[in-house]
Amino acid sequence: MTLQVDDLAKRYGEATVFEHVSLEVAAGEFVAIVGESGVGKSTLLNCMAGLDSWDAGGVRHDGIALATLDDEARALWRRRHVGFVFQAFHVLPHLDVAQNVALPLMLLGHTDAGRVQHMLSIVGLEGLGERLPQQLSGGQLQRVAIARALVHRPSLLLADEPTGNLDPATAARVMDVLVEQSREHGASLVLVTHSEAAAARADRVLHLRADGIVSSTS
Ligand SMILES: Nc1ncnc2c1ncn2[C@@H]1O[C@H](COP(=O)(O)OP(=O)(O)OP(=O)(O)O)[C@@H](O)[C@H]1O
Ligand SMILES: [Mg+2]
Repeated sequence: MTLQVDDLAKRYGEATVFEHVSLEVAAGEFVAIVGESGVGKSTLLNCMAGLDSWDAGGVRHDGIALATLDDEARALWRRRHVGFVFQAFHVLPHLDVAQNVALPLMLLGHTDAGRVQHMLSIVGLEGLGERLPQQLSGGQLQRVAIARALVHRPSLLLADEPTGNLDPATAARVMDVLVEQSREHGASLVLVTHSEAAAARADRVLHLRADGIVSSTS
């Protein structure tokens, strides 16, 4: 899926988080977004998914402006086409690990236990499907969130600090999973990260600032 962000601005009252943010992600491309804490990286990712509103500019996917879809159409579009790894995981506490990973498939009316087990094994959580989230470590929860974001083979994968809680070796493995899965399905990948190792794997690195987004020279 192609993604276009056009002169986007986000404000809270008088306070501008960012403005003049324009970028394009080609189908199958992997773009990393870096920038200091609080500059609006999570906010920008939420706007890309239609999970947050903005104050100027627009977001288009395959040429279709998100703003032209009503809430229901946007939710359906997101279920079908987007995988989102939230910075705070957003794992549901009363569902076990396998049920959490299966959720995007269930919302699309599918069940595929084999696919769920496959996703658990590629993120290194085989055998933990029946655990509840509270019985997992932070890094294991992060991998549940990643398996869940990939299980329905989205054409756009938005990942917010997906390796933030992981040791370097596990982080590298998780990055392998994200890159391989998106390549395998031709998905576009937008990764927000503070990790130089993770950003180094991207096709391009963009630096978000309050006054726009620029190609990173580092
Ligand atoms: N409801 C709100 N009212 C006012 N300001 C808010 C609100 N929610 C978020 N902000 C501000 O918006 C800015 C962007 O937040 P965001 O979470 O997108 O930053 P970030 O770049 O993802 O930071 P980090 O690297 O720490 O995750 C922050 O400065 C935050 O304080
Ligand atoms: Mg953030």
